[in-house]
Amino acid sequence: MNYKVKDLGLAGDGDASIEWSQRNMPVLQEISAQFGKDRSFDGIRIAACLHITKETAGLMLALQEGGAEVSLCPSNPLSTQDDVAASLAKRGIKVYGWKGIGTEDYYWCISKASEIQPQILLDDGADLISHLHKENPPWMDQIMGGQEETTTGVIRFRSMEAKGVLRFPVVAVNDAKVKWEMDNVFGTGQSSLHGILNGAKILIAGKTVVVGGFGHCGRGIAMRARGLGARVIVTEVDPHRALAAALEGYSVMTMEQAAPIGDVFITATGNRNVIGGKHAERMKEGAILANAGHFNVEINLDELDALTESKREIQPMVEERKLSTGNSVVLLADGRLVNLALAYGHPSEVMDMSFSVHALTALWLKENHKELARDRVHQVPAKIDDEVASRKLASMGISIDEMTDEQKSYIASWELGT
Ligand SMILES: NC(=O)c1ccc[n+]([C@@H]2O[C@H](COP(=O)([O-])OP(=O)(O)OC[C@H]3O[C@@H](n4cnc5c(N)ncnc54)[C@H](O)[C@@H]3O)[C@@H](O)[C@H]2O)c1
Repeated sequence: MNYKVKDLGLAGDGDASIEWSQRNMPVLQEISAQFGKDRSFDGIRIAACLHITKETAGLMLALQEGGAEVSLCPSNPLSTQDDVAASLAKRGIKVYGWKGIGTEDYYWCISKASEIQPQILLDDGADLISHLHKENPPWMDQIMGGQEETTTGVIRFRSMEAKGVLRFPVVAVNDAKVKWEMDNVFGTGQSSLHGILNGAKILIAGKTVVVGGFGHCGRGIAMRARGLGARVIVTEVDPHRALAAALEGYSVMTMEQAAPIGDVFITATGNRNVIGGKHAERMKEGAILANAGHFNVEINLDELDALTESKREIQPMVEERKLSTGNSVVLLADGRLVNLALAYGHPSEVMDMSFSVHALTALWLKENHKELARDRVHQVPAKIDDEVASRKLASMGISIDEMTDEQKSYIASWELGT
């Protein structure tokens, strides 16, 4: 079978959901129409390991519209929208994935999606590409290249590059300005709060929200929590990011200091064990723990388990744990991406930018892969980044000024001063 999804009968709901999201992804829709006209990917096989959401559906369909054979597996066990997966299966995308997948099935889906022997790979967190490097199939050398969606994935590929084990070029889509500066800040900011509200159903106003990490995602989360009326505390390890948070008016302290003060804790660092047992045992009764970083390693679940005397599911993915300290904490989505597990992930308007970059980068990779060093991580060409920003602005009806020739030569000169 060319797919495995939860229930093909959900396809009608998925169609409606995809159609709704496409309305809010005008740039990707334009690119899709162009791909269709040019048959940009005729004869090309593309495998994607991405959150199976309605926005991802837009990207998959754009590549298919261009003539590509497309396979898709999830990049997180809890993020699949089963109706969307069903709709894509019906439309001929080779999709393998369902919400709540276990680890063994997760890797089975990656293997199934790889069966098309893809030439281009789209990854979110590096699981697909690192799996292929471990498996080393005989067709590895025909791969034109990969593209990575998130910060954690780029970090993993840079580590592979440094160790000399990368077998084909990978483009860091995450690092494009329209992605890192927009999607991670505004997409993760809004959707993480959405996940917490869906799960914990609390009033944010008046609460103390502790944000672990003040990078792109953390900044967005802190901004949106403050917008809803929270007192926001930031924890950091980078003095520059900590200073930026302090100058933006947030309280900055260590996690140990924040532990007894916070009502809600959200990690977004890309690092492990940001919240551990020593923090949990000092937390207030009912403190809520959530993670927005890519893997479920930011909250130390082993240490939390060791402190846990009993567990109770308040609703799916909302777990109250009675600790040996006498207090309880509430863990959301088992420490996995709260915005995808308990909400719908990033809104379509934001993914319009990220996935437009993916789409145009795939075309660029197809046309330029022979010139790229195969053991390197590459940047998205600035031309693609700028084009997506300009087209997004145009779709929003926003015009901006253009530099005059006089201004261009002034900016490029050194002679004029005081
Ligand atoms: N939930 C989502 O939908 C979503 C979207 C985009 C990115 N992500 C993931 O979120 C994570 C963060 O991404 P980003 O783009 O914000 O990265 P970033 O590099 O911009 O920011 C990470 C920040 O965390 C800080 N940090 C690292 N270790 C820390 C620790 N122990 N305590 C406190 N702070 C610490 C770093 O100094 C840095 O400022 C990554 O795992 C990324 O893949 C998730």
